[in-house]
Amino acid sequence: MKLSDAKVVITGATGGIGQSVAYLLAERGARLLLVGRNSDKLISTVQHLGSEHSWLSADISSVQGRADVMLQAKRFEANMLVNNAGISEFNEFSQLSDTRLAQAMNINLLAPMSLTRSFLHELGDTPKVVLNVGSALGSIGYPYYASYCATKFGLRGFTEALQRELTDSRHQVLYFAPRATDTSINSDAVKQMNRALGSKTDTPQEVAHALVKQLELGKKRLAVGWPEKLFARLNGFWPEVVDNALAKKFTKIQKFVKMVNS
Ligand SMILES: NC(=O)c1ccc[n+]([C@@H]2O[C@H](COP(=O)([O-])OP(=O)(O)OC[C@H]3O[C@@H](n4cnc5c(N)ncnc54)[C@H](OP(=O)(O)O)[C@@H]3O)[C@@H](O)[C@H]2O)c1
Repeated sequence: MKLSDAKVVITGATGGIGQSVAYLLAERGARLLLVGRNSDKLISTVQHLGSEHSWLSADISSVQGRADVMLQAKRFEANMLVNNAGISEFNEFSQLSDTRLAQAMNINLLAPMSLTRSFLHELGDTPKVVLNVGSALGSIGYPYYASYCATKFGLRGFTEALQRELTDSRHQVLYFAPRATDTSINSDAVKQMNRALGSKTDTPQEVAHALVKQLELGKKRLAVGWPEKLFARLNGFWPEVVDNALAKKFTKIQKFVKMVNS
């Protein structure tokens, strides 16, 4: 689909990656419906981008919030959905209550699945594109990210199964996997850990460029950055190598998770 013909719903449009994606897509001539919970940020972004764009404040972890998004998407005649909203928690698994586990599942996995189903099946027959924002941690189980990894592995599996189910349809479902990116989803402990481990962190603008390129090419899967891209593949067929590599870093990683609960 040409981006100049796209009418795009972007969730998480108030966040680091979502806002950068919104700016780039608007530059390419797409019309946007920006979704988040922070109305002030949504309003100021739309004021900056222009009155052809619109916004909606909705909590996508609730049934009502998702229904509101789909109602607006239908009125807007949207043909592209970027499921980008997400939350993350770097912590010991023992510290995660059922409420926090459910919240992560709701926002990172159930919401994109539910929005995708409604978007593809309740908004008419026109060809549509859905892009799900996963993570490098959707392919690599990382210590102290048990809940986040579970949701992003789930999102990757969901996307791949649906891609294959839709083989003979006119819809496209894409999976995008950034590595560490400099946004407020990452706590200070995570930012310090990434620096200490020498893990490269991308800017949201770099990540947005990669995401928009994927939309332009209609590429089914895209992972951002080396060596994470290689590690993700390696973890698939030879997980023991990644076990060993992470075991060597474990003491350092543990030092930073202690900061979270101190
Ligand atoms: N940054 C990274 O290191 C990194 C790496 C790999 C993948 N990712 C993925 O990239 C995506 C974007 O993350 P980011 O880095 O841009 O994080 P961010 O700056 O914290 O943005 C998160 C976005 O999600 C929205 N959101 C959270 N809970 C919501 C809810 N219940 N209802 C509606 N919107 C909600 C937030 O909107 P409001 O605050 O307005 O509600 C915000 O716009 C996420 O899926 C994340 O998992 C990020």
